[in-house]
This record gives sequence, structure tokens and C-alpha cells, in this order.
Amino acid sequence: MVPPLGPAISLRVMRDWIALQDSARMPTPVYLYDLDVMRARLAILNSMFGAQFDVSYAIKANPNAAIVKTAADSGQNLDASSYAEVVRARKTGIDPAKISFSGPGKRLTELELFIGTGSELVVESFEEIADAARIASTKGITQNVLIRVNPDFVPRGFGASMSGKPSQFGIDEQSAADAVAAIDAAPNLSLVGLHIYTGSNSLSADTIVENFENMARLFTELADGGSRKLEKLIFGAGFGVPYHNGQTPLDLEKVAAGTLHIAKLLRSYAGFADTTFILELGRWVVGPAGALLTSVLSTKISRGQNIRICDAGFNNHLAACGMMGSVFRKDWPVAHLTAEANSIEESVKLTGPLCTSIDALAGPLNLPFVKRGDVLAVLLSGAYGLTASPSRFISHPEPFEIIIEDGEFRDVTESHHNHIHGHGNA
Ligand SMILES: Cc1ncc(COP(=O)(O)O)c(C=O)c1O
Repeated sequence: MVPPLGPAISLRVMRDWIALQDSARMPTPVYLYDLDVMRARLAILNSMFGAQFDVSYAIKANPNAAIVKTAADSGQNLDASSYAEVVRARKTGIDPAKISFSGPGKRLTELELFIGTGSELVVESFEEIADAARIASTKGITQNVLIRVNPDFVPRGFGASMSGKPSQFGIDEQSAADAVAAIDAAPNLSLVGLHIYTGSNSLSADTIVENFENMARLFTELADGGSRKLEKLIFGAGFGVPYHNGQTPLDLEKVAAGTLHIAKLLRSYAGFADTTFILELGRWVVGPAGALLTSVLSTKISRGQNIRICDAGFNNHLAACGMMGSVFRKDWPVAHLTAEANSIEESVKLTGPLCTSIDALAGPLNLPFVKRGDVLAVLLSGAYGLTASPSRFISHPEPFEIIIEDGEFRDVTESHHNHIHGHGNA
């Protein structure tokens, strides 16, 4: 049996939104985020993993204030990777102790602002330990820290892997015990936990469970087999989303069976009975909750190929255009939202509006006839969409952001640049 993708934003909701717009001035590009879907996905995680794990939402996946607030209000922790993300987290009103600040390149000014705010610092280098110790001592406070460990071993099967090779992330496994000692020696730092995030976007339950086994081994070793009490262990989950044709959604039942078993062993035999275990992730929660809607600005046939030029390209969705870590561009799922009934499918190549040949959105692929003014959706786009894209390149209008909640649409656009939308020819 193919595992289900789980709740996702529906075509009906997207069409409802289109029906509310003036078709001559369609306000695209627009990211639609269905908050009810996001909540449903968080509820699935909590029901399947909640016996052992809390969840931390990685703000970088989608930092829109409405999304971050939804994660916080559903009881999750929040992981920030810049001080600006810390501020976004704090604005939700969440307990500061539920905020962690990770990331390899924290500025000294960010550390100065952050230290002493009651949240947890994930240190990623010896320099950062020294900086944090100095700042905490100057402020006369004790700062809680977690060490991000960079393991030697990462199982194959992640979309992108951050460990097992020279990298800017975390402290190498071989040096992690020295990092523990450095923190112990700093009177103003308190080691409260360990953090590992090794790879993202895996669709293999076996890979994820194997990775958890490795994290469990490392956590146990660093906690001296249970003699050191730690409050938190953060497991970078790496739960993936099937972006491409032929991919199978992650089998969450299988992941839960394997990881819950590991968690139970950690509690029984490794001294972590009262430790909070946390799954840190982003895309699995918000990816399927969102879509990018783009209008067709222009149609042409070039050397026999139907071309449709859309108002969103890699400026608005770098990942769907294959430029966020992929070796080859593969199409993301595209839906035709305004197709006429019974229209015949044809092969089309979808491009963005940018003056560069690398601006390929999808295709050639078969879609019901696509005419000028039609609206297409790039699905699974709630994570690493707008804010992971170079939206100021060529100064096209930046996408709107709209949330759907209880059947209502609300504009939560955070970019304010140059909103000239529509082509006026419908
Ligand atoms: C430290 C850390 N945590 C969490 C995440 C979230 O990953 P994902 O959105 O794939 O779940 C990332 C992504 O790069 C990360 O670097």
C-alpha cells in the first residue's frame, strides 16, 4: 500500500480564491497557505509521535508570521536561525524557553541581543562557545546552551546532507566531548541538551530510522551513558515531501514505529527518562499546506513547442525551478486551475518571466489547454518558497501571501515591493 501524503491544500480552495478576484487584474503571483491543513499535519505528528517526542517547527521553512503563530499556538517549539527569526518567534507570545536559536553564522550582535532572553542557544563552534560565555558573563546571567553535533556518519537517502564531511554546521563528532568540557568550564553557560540535524527531505523511513539510531548512539555517548542529565535532545527529523513524479510519500507509520522504539530504549537504558525529545522539522508540516499560483502572461510556439510564460519564475520559487540543491531540474506538481471543461491536453513548457534561459518552471508536460490569463498552481509549495527565492531579481512584483482559515481568506503579504499585477487582457 502506498503511504498517504496526508492533508494538503485543495484545488477547490484555490479555485474559490480565484473566483473572488477580478480576472483582469489577477493578483498573482500569490502563495496560498491553508492553516487548517498545517494544523491537521501537526496534529498527525502529535498523535503519532507525541508519546515520546515534542515537535519544533523550523521557522526557516516558512517564516510568515501567520504560519509561525499557528505553529506556536498549536503548542510546538520554534527553531530560529537568525535573530530576526527569534523576533518572529517571540512575537507569537510563546514561552521563550520553547525557542531555540541555531545556525552556523550568528553575528556577535545577534548573540548579544539573544543571550539572556530566556531562550536556548544551539552552539555550532568553539568560537561561539567562547563568545556566548563572555557575553553571558558580562551580562551576569547563565545562558542555557545545546551543542549541535555534526556526526561522522549519515545514512544515504537524504535530499541534502549536512554531515559526515567538512562542513560549517555544528561541532564534529570527534570534538564534541571537548565542547561539553568547554561549556562545563564556563561558569555562565549551562549545557541543557544536544542537537543534531544531518539531512533534509528524506522519503525513506529506513534512512530516517537509521539516522535516529545514530543520533541516539551519539547522544548516549556524549551524556556518558546516562550519568549526565540533559533536559533536551533535538532530533533533526528530515521528513521529506514527494515533489517529483514517481516518488512515494514518506511512510510515517514506519518512521513512528522505528523512532518510538529508539526513544523508549533511550529512556530505559541511557538515562534519559525525564528528557524532552524533540523532532525538529519544517517542510513536512507546511510544504503540502501551500501552493504558488501564477498567471500565464504570454503564449507562443517556438520551434514546434508550446511555451507558456508565467508571472512567477525562479525569482519566486527557486526550489521548483530546480535551483535549491538539485543536480537536475525535475518538475514539481503543477495543476491547471482555470482549465475549460473537456479541453484537450497538450504538451507545454512553462517558463517564468525572467530574462535568462535558466528560468524554467516546469515541462514540457501535458496539461489541459493553457491560454493567456489562465492560472496554474505549483503544489507542495508551502515550505522554502517565497523567502527561499531571489524575489528582487529583475524587480518583478513580489508574490502576495494569503492564508485560508475556517474557509476565510486573509492577506498576510509580507513583501511590499512594486505590486503591479494582472495583464489587463482577460
Ligand atoms: C537546523 C535545521 N533544522 C531544521 C531544518 C528543517 O528542515 P526541513 O524543513 O527539511 O524539515 C533545517 C533545514 O535546513 C535545519 O538546517
